[in-house]
Amino acid sequence: MIPTIYDAKANRYEKLQYRRSGNSGILLPAISLGLWQNFGSTKPLEDTRNILRYGFDNGIVHFDLANNYGPPYGSAEETFGEVLRRDFGRYRDELFISTKAGYDMWPGPYGNWGSRKYLLSSLDQSLSRMGLEYVDVFYSHRFDPNTPLEETMGALDTAVRSGKALYAGISSYSAEKTLEAIAILKDLGTPLFIHQPSYSILNRWIEEALLDVLSTHGVGCIAFSPLAQGILSEKYLSSEIPDQSRAADSSSLDKTMLNEQNLEKVRSLSGIAKKRGQTLPQMAIAWVLRDPRITSALIGVRNIEQLKANIAALENTHFDQDELAEIDKFSNGVNINLWEESSSYK
Ligand SMILES: NC(=O)c1ccc[n+]([C@@H]2O[C@H](COP(=O)([O-])OP(=O)(O)OC[C@H]3O[C@@H](n4cnc5c(N)ncnc54)[C@H](OP(=O)(O)O)[C@@H]3O)[C@@H](O)[C@H]2O)c1
Repeated sequence: MIPTIYDAKANRYEKLQYRRSGNSGILLPAISLGLWQNFGSTKPLEDTRNILRYGFDNGIVHFDLANNYGPPYGSAEETFGEVLRRDFGRYRDELFISTKAGYDMWPGPYGNWGSRKYLLSSLDQSLSRMGLEYVDVFYSHRFDPNTPLEETMGALDTAVRSGKALYAGISSYSAEKTLEAIAILKDLGTPLFIHQPSYSILNRWIEEALLDVLSTHGVGCIAFSPLAQGILSEKYLSSEIPDQSRAADSSSLDKTMLNEQNLEKVRSLSGIAKKRGQTLPQMAIAWVLRDPRITSALIGVRNIEQLKANIAALENTHFDQDELAEIDKFSNGVNINLWEESSSYK
């Protein structure tokens, strides 16, 4: 049983580092917590409350959601709304909450992709599920090749102007489409605040062009799946897939990624982490944050122990040149791009 009344720890801002998102006025925690998996209605609410309370007590003020997080879809927002109501209500102004629309959410032609109709009705639904008047960031979850970008960006602008979102974001857009989005939003008077791409030691697509685009235009970058959905840990290094793992209980992790060639690289990376006095997940988070253009590492967790261990990654975020070169040997050219579909739309 957890205490019914929640009082956040008084020293909660002494532990984490905060980084500015692009040229904006907003600082985000170096580690942010996403509720994509493990926070839906299939998980006990007490566990979720425990994890979220622990995060906030340790300075994690940014929680990332989307309309389709759960499982089932929508239920992570409902659960988060319940925790807001029970525990975090009086801390709303200390929290930075995001949601998104872009993937299949409801049947018919208006429940997917990037139309104005879908984005704005989905935002209303998200607010109602969370019991919020506004979110801090509203994202277009993926680029839609069949909707004019002006329409999708216009919907983000409307979301901000209506007060239902404070900032506009995009996720998994290519560098080229990001440049176009930046220009359209600038014209509309709602600057692009942040981009949310996948990024990890095993997935470095953003280094080619996107990071330069974002830093040139003063846009923040929050990197999702810095552990490559848990591949960057020791759990898949023995021959059996453990029961309590994403590969066992979610279809989002393509098991063909767990091939011997990739696992050999993970083994070598784990050896480098040990020499640094870290676990592989900790080194993977620190590595993403080695680049000052990354505003925040957006992690997921199954339980409080993982969150605790991951926050400790911030105790050593320095890499010397030899360590970086060693990591490059096992990461360059791997590109486990788990979201190729959207980022490859040019
Ligand atoms: N914009 C988008 O399209 C998009 C897409 C995906 C994700 N996201 C966002 O990014 C967030 C994070 O994504 P993600 O969950 O894939 O991130 P991740 O941090 O790469 O993977 C999280 C998973 O790694 C494992 N893990 C975490 N810490 C561990 C530790 N210390 N030791 C061993 N295993 C550990 C857990 O999986 P096990 O179950 O195996 O223990 C955990 O659920 C999401 O919640 C969402 O907010 C956005």
